Amino acid sequence: RCSYLGTAFKWGMALYVGDYVILLDIWLKITEAICFVFSKVLDSCYVLIVFIQIGEYIMIRRRRLRATENLRALVRETSVSVSDLIYPLFVIEGNDIKNPIDSMPGIYQYSLDRIDEELDRIREAGVKGVLLFGIPAHKDECGTEAYNEHGIIQEAIRYIKKVFPELVVIADICLCEYTSHGHCGLIKDGIILNDETLPLLAKTAVTCAQAGADMVAPSNMMDGHIAAIREALDEAGCKMTPIMAYSAKMASGYYGPFRDAAHSAPGFGDRKTYQMDYHNPREAMRDIQDDIDEGADIIIIKPALAFLDILKTASWETDMPLCAYNVSGEYSMVKAAAANGWIDEKKIVMENMIGMKRAGAQMIITYHALDVAKWLREE
Ligand code: PBG
Ligand code: ZN
Repeated sequence: RCSYLGTAFKWGMALYVGDYVILLDIWLKITEAICFVFSKVLDSCYVLIVFIQIGEYIMIRRRRLRATENLRALVRETSVSVSDLIYPLFVIEGNDIKNPIDSMPGIYQYSLDRIDEELDRIREAGVKGVLLFGIPAHKDECGTEAYNEHGIIQEAIRYIKKVFPELVVIADICLCEYTSHGHCGLIKDGIILNDETLPLLAKTAVTCAQAGADMVAPSNMMDGHIAAIREALDEAGCKMTPIMAYSAKMASGYYGPFRDAAHSAPGFGDRKTYQMDYHNPREAMRDIQDDIDEGADIIIIKPALAFLDILKTASWETDMPLCAYNVSGEYSMVKAAAANGWIDEKKIVMENMIGMKRAGAQMIITYHALDVAKWLREE
């Protein structure tokens, strides 16, 4: 049990740790005696005694490397770039629709015939990936439109891949936007069924992959959904379609604005029987490991900002690509405060982005993507 104390104190230093005294230089006998007395008096395990020879102390000046913008840039440890960003997109069935989402300023639902305008903005921003959510005209108990080959999300994928082939199109795989009850799975007697829902999710993933989706992102939190989707994709010949799994997805109040945007609020109850309890960071690691074992290619942590601990632990414990989902509520809070002039939107958003990167995210799904891209370009 030995500690290195650095060169800052030239001599006359002693560290008393438990039963040991580590001494530097000539103060050996004196400090040993002092430590001995201290340990008797305080009866503590750790007593640190430091003698500083006045005048020999070297001032640590961290500010040297903070002096100019270029110096700061040189020693910067993390960064965010436009290629890290994934932009969520809401596509609604119908014609000539561009609906603003009241709780998410700047975000709209687009019908396919109006989506070019948004695709142009994405192209111009240089954002390389979108996460697609479909909002069907008709919902039913079984979420039929989710796995209709010609459903809104499948058609949106076809259209976007046709006009913007290099854009990475990721399809969110869930039933809640398509079910009349707004839950992410089938329902019987008020219970959200697990195993019975899996084939429908698998079919949704396959129809999206066949429509040309570059990735599927199952967000439904049914047990075994990653394995079920992997198997179905492989069987359908979509062996190369990666799965971006929402592995640690919490039952969270932060999804409120999204449910306005996607018309997907649960008609009764909540999602706590399938989404994770946010009190449990260790359970989150188990969920992540399960998804890795089932064949996930990328792991999503969601929400992001209140869950950076989970992201950080995941970055230590796995070597999978990690994605932070900077969710709707996180976006709305920033937008609301900025609209009131209470915060500087750009500063806050960039700080949030770096927070997620620092915690270990390689990529970030964020409604701020186009703004961040613009700010990065301006730098
Ligand atoms: C669908 C889904 C949700 C989000 C992404 N996919 C909502 C939910 O689980 O209720 C939330 C995204 C956001 O809040 O931005 N299951
Ligand atoms: Zn859902």
